[in-house]
Amino acid sequence: MSEFKPVRGMRDLLPAQAEMLRSVEGKARKVAELYGYREIVTPVVESYDLLSAKAGEEVKSRMFLFKDLGGRDVALRPEFTASVARLVATTLRNEPKPLRLFCVGSIYRYDEPQRGRYREFWQSNYELMGSNRPEADAEVLMLTNALMHQAGLKKYAFKVGHVGVLRGILIQEKVDEKIQNAVMQLMDKKQYNDAIALLEKSGTPRKCTSLIRKLVELRGAKVLEVADSIKILVQDYERSVEAVENLREVLELVSGSGCEIDMTVEAGFARGLEYYTGMIFEINVPDLDIALGGGGRYDRLIELFGGERTPAVGVAHGLDRIMLGLETHKALEKSEERKTVMVVATKDELSGQALRVAQLLRVAGIPAELEVMRRRMVKALEVADKKKTTFAVIVGEKELGEGAVVIRNLLKREQNTIRIEKIAEYLKCHA
Ligand code: HAM
Repeated sequence: MSEFKPVRGMRDLLPAQAEMLRSVEGKARKVAELYGYREIVTPVVESYDLLSAKAGEEVKSRMFLFKDLGGRDVALRPEFTASVARLVATTLRNEPKPLRLFCVGSIYRYDEPQRGRYREFWQSNYELMGSNRPEADAEVLMLTNALMHQAGLKKYAFKVGHVGVLRGILIQEKVDEKIQNAVMQLMDKKQYNDAIALLEKSGTPRKCTSLIRKLVELRGAKVLEVADSIKILVQDYERSVEAVENLREVLELVSGSGCEIDMTVEAGFARGLEYYTGMIFEINVPDLDIALGGGGRYDRLIELFGGERTPAVGVAHGLDRIMLGLETHKALEKSEERKTVMVVATKDELSGQALRVAQLLRVAGIPAELEVMRRRMVKALEVADKKKTTFAVIVGEKELGEGAVVIRNLLKREQNTIRIEKIAEYLKCHA
């Protein structure tokens, strides 16, 4: 046996898994259609400068980075958002707003491989560009809910927050931006004590760090009440008050939409990517301690890429993790039993005739496999049986002379002689 195997963190998806991935991808595409998002296809390789602009230390340090043969610093995309923002800052800059764009495909991050964490994984990604209104934020939450529901997940919950709550405090306290970003990264990893220690070390007043401590503990499912409690706590910080008012508007819209969404608000919630400026969220499944998706508002990225000032909000879903969630819930749809057809010639001289019959079936829309190993009939049928093939179409001299073939149902072990012009119709009726 060869010693070649996939590179660490990379996987082969065998037919059943590939089929599952394509099925979830199909659902994501359906949701995009329902909500008016048009699909775009962007390159897997992008310039490192673009990808690293506001990705945050974590994502930046885990990029598959290399020099191409022209000496350019490029990387495999660690997300779609930068590519979509690049397009909106350039080619699509004059398109009427709002712009709703959808992408799906493989993403690369040099994460430590473990269950649900791979170095190549799949995302479905939705970006809504051009609106700074809370309805846009609500839409992204609702379409995420629609995808989780349509994928068949039974239990999942949203964790929602707003980066402006913490940023508002840190900005007013004149905390250096680099330290702010480091604090947010630590909060994202739930290393709250380290985040607070870093602030204390950088001379942030006690009053502020003890407020952050209180915020970290403030969370709950009565979302509007939690928002009101946050507002009371941060009342001395103008920008934080604006942020929590904006969050409350979004929550009110979602709660009043008729969509039953299980949400928790967390005042100290942060996300690793640095471009977020507003509402942020993640989706979790109770038995898995990994997020199935995440997103939020980022109003300054397109401008940073040299485009017009364009507010934006978006989300990406981890398709591999949705599949894992479905497995955990044992909610995997039984894939439809597919009828399969194998066309076999009784002797080598009839191979051309068998090829013609197989083609005739495909033209009629019936998938057909041709026996290309020139196995003896008995052996060919044995193999077909092993592969659980439903029908064997046997092309033999005697029947061909009468313009017919033999169709054997390998599962029911019965057979009929059918005229060639009737094969497609026969298989359609019996499949
Ligand atoms: P993200 O939270 O970095 O956000 O990734 C989104 C989702 O991708 C995660 O919730 C998770 O399901 C999946 N994911 C991340 N890393 C891995 C991994 N190593 N293996 C398997 N799945 C993984 C973004 O990517 C943002 N671009 C989302 C966004 C769009 N924000 C605004 N617009």
